[in-house]
Amino acid sequence: MCGIVGYIGHREAYPIILKGLKRLEYRGYDSAGIALFDGTDLKLSKTKGKVANLETKLESEITTHGSVGIGHTRWATHGVPNDVNSHPHYSNSGDLVIIHNGIIENYESLKKELIKRGYVFKSDTDTEVLVNLIEDVKKNEQIKLGKAVQIALNQVVGAYAIAVFDRNKPNEIVVARLGSPLAIGIGDDEFFIASDASPFIEYTKNAIYLEDEEMAIVRRDKGVKIRKIHDDSLVDPYVQELQLNLEQIEKGGYDHFMLKEIYEQPSAILDTFRGRLLTNEAIIKMAGVEDNMKKFLNADRIIIVACGTSWHAGLVAEYIFEDLARIPVEVEYASEFRYRNPIITEKDVVIAISQSGETADTLAAIKLAKSKGAFVFGVCNVVGSSIAREAHAGAYTHAGPEIGVASTKAFTTQITVLTLIALRLSRAKGTISSSDYRHHLIELELIPDKVKKALESDDYVKTIAEIYKDVHNFLYLGRGYNFPVALEGALKLKEISYIHAEGYPAAEMKHGPIALIDENMPIVVIATKKGHYEKVVSNIQEIKSRKGKIIGIVTEGDTQVKELADHVIEVPETIESLSPLLTTIPLQLLSYHIALMLGKNVDQPRNLAKAVTVE
Ligand code: G6P
Repeated sequence: MCGIVGYIGHREAYPIILKGLKRLEYRGYDSAGIALFDGTDLKLSKTKGKVANLETKLESEITTHGSVGIGHTRWATHGVPNDVNSHPHYSNSGDLVIIHNGIIENYESLKKELIKRGYVFKSDTDTEVLVNLIEDVKKNEQIKLGKAVQIALNQVVGAYAIAVFDRNKPNEIVVARLGSPLAIGIGDDEFFIASDASPFIEYTKNAIYLEDEEMAIVRRDKGVKIRKIHDDSLVDPYVQELQLNLEQIEKGGYDHFMLKEIYEQPSAILDTFRGRLLTNEAIIKMAGVEDNMKKFLNADRIIIVACGTSWHAGLVAEYIFEDLARIPVEVEYASEFRYRNPIITEKDVVIAISQSGETADTLAAIKLAKSKGAFVFGVCNVVGSSIAREAHAGAYTHAGPEIGVASTKAFTTQITVLTLIALRLSRAKGTISSSDYRHHLIELELIPDKVKKALESDDYVKTIAEIYKDVHNFLYLGRGYNFPVALEGALKLKEISYIHAEGYPAAEMKHGPIALIDENMPIVVIATKKGHYEKVVSNIQEIKSRKGKIIGIVTEGDTQVKELADHVIEVPETIESLSPLLTTIPLQLLSYHIALMLGKNVDQPRNLAKAVTVE
């Protein structure tokens, strides 16, 4: 995820773009840049770090005059966050400049072609490939910028929201969208371009939201002309009147970042396996795994180190790795591991899981593992973070920035990456049959749609939240793959509602927690069809006979639990190993609604921090 902003009109573009970038920093903030055209020259300045760094740099570096310009705040996907990889990117001639939010999946093959034709690349980004591809098409075909962008985009596989400016055509900006958002604000003889409407809300309430596969030529004098990228047909612009205020827009219309991130999970999971899961070819492509396949295959065991929600994702991974790839796994709290003189050998593979990539204990744990000769693989969300850099290799989750302190989309995307790794290894080891392997790939590909379906329980979950919001204790139970989900569900509730909650393996209930059960105790039981169903149903009966209140998370169409439970929340059917990706959704929603009803600060709960960089 990145934020893009553009302006063309009669005002000074710089303050509009700068303020717009600050508002879009929630979309990424590892580097930023602005290009301005002052009537004669194109000026560009960019830097690693937040927009505030850019502001300091820019004002000392270039004159900030000009009534047309584009700007970008980055969430790195290809290439570490540094000055060179920051956007905007020039084409080789220096005539064109581009900003991009998204991923060009076939950039390597395009780049090779362009290099053959003499193009030189300064950065590691896919975006610099795209701007040169546009330049190449424009030069070869002797066509206008808009047409060249269209032809180039027809050669591109991936996702994008782009804005392209040509210094020889200073009255227009060309924009296009596929899979990443792009809004155009319509003023009086002025136009605003942005990833959402927040950069221009005080200037105009009229906006066009480009649809996927649409591009627009935005002309200072002639307005906006929209076409379909693939079939060239013209599209009538649909101008909407914005009803939202600024804060709502930054949160994409949601009341809180947490809710927005819960709802982003279908697209976040898709982004996680985009370009990696090739179902038709029955291939999983992950460079970090491929390049180190020997290490994985020769490993005596995998040790997973993590904290908090990431540790719960690690527990799910333990089931997947052992079940599918038949590799012994130990899951460790990084904070314990680092101080207990663990036995680590050169034949161990250590997987460190961390959303932020900055958690101090996890970082210390991997340094320890490295010092003992283990191979360390990082699973991080933040590109270029300390853990990502410290690990020998890794795979990013590509979930986009997670702002809510209670982790949601990070959890499901971590499980997605770890599932891909486990599947790849089980194929390489021959521990999975080819039909079972294919079945897993097909089911994984269906998960984003099934998560969407699971999100439809939101209103019903809200009614359950209303009933139980005033209790002081909750119990969460699950078995097998869904035991870690029970832990995660309890953690979510604790974190943001401050209600005491415990997660337990369902069968362990009789060794302690059963003593807590009375008619006031709500117990969330994950009882999906394929995970030891009959056994969990027996546990539910044990709860019922002690008058506990049962909230069952069940597979669509379930009848048995429905008869016993006080409430059931349905999730779509899937294979057992993927069920955590669905069962976790209602639990996130339940904690969100309860916290909200109790008037708690959902996005910034007391005493917690998003990245714990102290031990
Ligand atoms: C903090 C956050 C949690 C997170 C944990 C681990 O406690 O509040 O949401 O799960 O740190 O963070 P990491 O960035 O390493 O995943």
